[in-house]
Amino acid sequence: MNATQLKQVRTVLAPMAGYTDAAFRLLCSQHGCDLTVTEMVSSKALVMGNSNTLRLLKVFDGSAPCFVQIFGHEPQVMADSVQTEQLSRFDGIDVNMGCPVRKIVSNGEGSALLENLPLAGRIVSSLRKATDKPLTVKFRVGVDKPDKGADFARMCRDNGADGITVHLRTRRQMYSGHADYTLLEEILKVSGDMAVFANGDVTDRQSYLAAMKYGVQGVSVGRGALGRPYVFADIKGNDYSWRMRDIYDTVVKQWRLTLQYTPPRVAVNEIKKHIAFYLKGIRGAKSAVVAVAQAKTDKEIFDALDGFFKEYL
Ligand SMILES: Cc1cc2nc3c(=O)[nH]c(=O)nc-3n(C[C@H](O)[C@H](O)[C@H](O)COP(=O)(O)O)c2cc1C
Repeated sequence: MNATQLKQVRTVLAPMAGYTDAAFRLLCSQHGCDLTVTEMVSSKALVMGNSNTLRLLKVFDGSAPCFVQIFGHEPQVMADSVQTEQLSRFDGIDVNMGCPVRKIVSNGEGSALLENLPLAGRIVSSLRKATDKPLTVKFRVGVDKPDKGADFARMCRDNGADGITVHLRTRRQMYSGHADYTLLEEILKVSGDMAVFANGDVTDRQSYLAAMKYGVQGVSVGRGALGRPYVFADIKGNDYSWRMRDIYDTVVKQWRLTLQYTPPRVAVNEIKKHIAFYLKGIRGAKSAVVAVAQAKTDKEIFDALDGFFKEYL
């Protein structure tokens, strides 16, 4: 992918730690997602060759283009990280400047950079020099007040970013309250040639079309995709099937994919988190939800699912 192709992207699977691994990214791709992003990966860990991050970097053939999301606070370390062999496979680099988690913020990383525009600028500029791949930055609109979006967009533009993903919430809001799309107007005024992706509360075609009316190039979908990889087909107005049988088949497929790059014990915990979303809101699924949550093995998980889904299979 190059910067021109980035401009064709309408739908992005937002990075979500603990969820947007290779299996889930592939499923979303198969439902028509244009671009996927790994969960956030520490630049320092990459440079140190920390093997714990390797699982996060798996990408299946047949997936939509995939960007790796990095976080950090040292421009040189971040620049070095994008030149590591492990990142050579990725189609682009996304930089996390929005994470509100205390451990990250207290290290001067993620959304801490919203309060340190000069350092954020040095990071983007050093990454720009380190890679020819598309470079995007994901950030929130402010810390306590939504007053940082335009300054941040300008900083990204001036330092050579190809795109920005704006989570239209402040750090204080975390994940609650509504994303404020009216903030896009001043951001779009200063975004120049960059691709602008709006993020927050896109969950279906209607909310996608509402977001696009603000003049953005595309949207980044987070929680709206959890347990609902078909949301990308829905957004595009494409046909899709999501009957009970499809839900079951999707879980089985995701489990098999996950096992290809994950030790079974870890895979059990990973798939359990996703199943909670797949079963969310389904009438009569409560006891299956509880049984899956308590399961210690894949056998226990699939016994519970087989029991619940048997009448649909
Ligand atoms: C469980 C979870 C993990 C997340 N992990 C990341 C992450 O690693 N990097 C990042 O930039 N944002 C992360 N986010 C934020 C999402 O990418 C997105 O900005 C946020 O959920 C708002 O979009 P939504 O309303 O569509 O969910 C995470 C969100 C959730 C719910």
